Amino acid sequence: MLNHDILIVGGGLTGLRAAVGLCDRFDVGLISKVYPTRSHSIAAQGGLNAALTNNPESRDDSWEKHTFDTIKGSDYLADQDAAEIMCKEGIKIVYEMEHWGCPFSRFPDGTIAQRPFGGAGYPRTCYSADITGHVLLNTLYERAVAKGVKIYPEWFVTSLCIEEGLCHGVIALDTQKGSLIPVRAKVTFFGTGGYGRVFQQSTNALINTGGGIGMAYKAGVPLKDMEFVQFHPTTLIGTNILMSEACRGEGAYLANNQGERFMQRYVPTAMELAPRDIVSRCIQTEINEGRGFDHPLGKYVHLDLRHLGAKKILERLPGIRNISIDFLGVDPITDPIPIQPGQHYSMGGIDVNARCSSDVRGFYAGGECSCVSVHGANRLGGNSLLETIVFGKLAAQAIDEDMTKSPLPLPDEKPLLRMQEAMEAKIRRLTEPGRGEKAYKIHAELGVTMTEKVGIFRTRKNLDEALQVLIGLKERYRQVGVSSAVRYMNYELINTLEQEYVLEVAHTIILGAILREESRGAHFRLDFKTRNDQDWLKHTIARIGPDGEPAISFKEVIMTRYQPMERKY
Ligand code: FUM
Repeated sequence: MLNHDILIVGGGLTGLRAAVGLCDRFDVGLISKVYPTRSHSIAAQGGLNAALTNNPESRDDSWEKHTFDTIKGSDYLADQDAAEIMCKEGIKIVYEMEHWGCPFSRFPDGTIAQRPFGGAGYPRTCYSADITGHVLLNTLYERAVAKGVKIYPEWFVTSLCIEEGLCHGVIALDTQKGSLIPVRAKVTFFGTGGYGRVFQQSTNALINTGGGIGMAYKAGVPLKDMEFVQFHPTTLIGTNILMSEACRGEGAYLANNQGERFMQRYVPTAMELAPRDIVSRCIQTEINEGRGFDHPLGKYVHLDLRHLGAKKILERLPGIRNISIDFLGVDPITDPIPIQPGQHYSMGGIDVNARCSSDVRGFYAGGECSCVSVHGANRLGGNSLLETIVFGKLAAQAIDEDMTKSPLPLPDEKPLLRMQEAMEAKIRRLTEPGRGEKAYKIHAELGVTMTEKVGIFRTRKNLDEALQVLIGLKERYRQVGVSSAVRYMNYELINTLEQEYVLEVAHTIILGAILREESRGAHFRLDFKTRNDQDWLKHTIARIGPDGEPAISFKEVIMTRYQPMERKY
């Protein structure tokens, strides 16, 4: 058994920032499913928002205005205290990252460059060309290594151990050796990422299965607002690789098969820089009404950068150009990029407060796996990188404070040993010869159903159908088997173990979407087209019941000074 004061699960920006904040005072261990610099934070492109007022057009900006944009963008479902904290703290963390060596792009006067993003009143997105996640992650990884954080790379956490309201740690599989190891900790922190890969068409890395969220849920931790799933307007046709909002921030157009800048008909004041939920619905409407283009891999519209010119594209959007050439053979300097909306971000997640603390003693969560909630029903572009670092930092402060005020001892090891034994038995069962069903097939069928029936436009009929498919897939999962009993580097085994959690996550998304009979942010019900504050200005909370089925309850939205109004752009 391994022991740590603090165990962090997840090597992305949130986990690394939390580790950096805690390692001076505590013995910190960090488990990461992949090598930390391959975490999905690396894929973030466009930037992070903070009211630095560096852009000549943003001199009047303030963290309060950033907060207002965030809350309005959230369709008033964000907890306003948390949004205020994020936007205020955001300014400090950008400078902190700068001082730690993060190579931001610069304005000619040497200040950190800021570009416009959707739904924002001012250009406040700080960036490093179109590889902002890459530079932030490498900066934090270097710092964690320099500070001596003990990292367990390529370890997969199989289960979270909670007994009688106290978190004991996790059981982890050392992928390279194939051994199951109980890891005991006074405090466990999850920064395990979102649930994008519950959907087939997603910008997310294949590792973003929502496994950590499902694991917490199975262990009894409630989830919040799971039905809120962000669909990014511009993903490359076929692979659904992100084509950053930075393209539109730099001035790119969206055009249909008539060559028309169709946003003019929907949101003439904001055009391509309306918030993501709105732009995605506009693109999907164009496609559904026959104004898209056909491609063997699906229908699409154009993201046109040509008028920006080669110099600007090469300087500000070099990654976009490379991806577009490498994956589709399209050079955005000379041709428009074929794009379609695709799943991008999980607004829902593990229910925590603005200190990243859950209602289980010794268990905290932050970043995309959590729902603080700062994004409510729709996240603004550029607020995700911000959230990861702000709440990684604040979680570390909260854990430090809590451990100073009332220190938790190392918990009893027996629950972990029991859990390890149960997991050993489960793996033996899964690897018995002759078990037919394969987890990857279940995952693929789930992804198609989620994309088709729980997507941008939802109806009761489609959601009910998705629920029936899910129930069938859960049934089939009972028969699932793994081809090889070899324990090391057995990714089929890992994916099979994880699939159980993926199905639970999907279940909570579908149930929340069925229950929520209104349209708010990214949750758009064609059978309930308007927002209904009277009945639905509240969070949904999904808990696993004693029968193993999800039960949904509700929680008040925290309001400070921003009264809900009609969301107009
Ligand atoms: O479009 C993008 O670059 C994505 C940014 C974000 O999701 O915040």
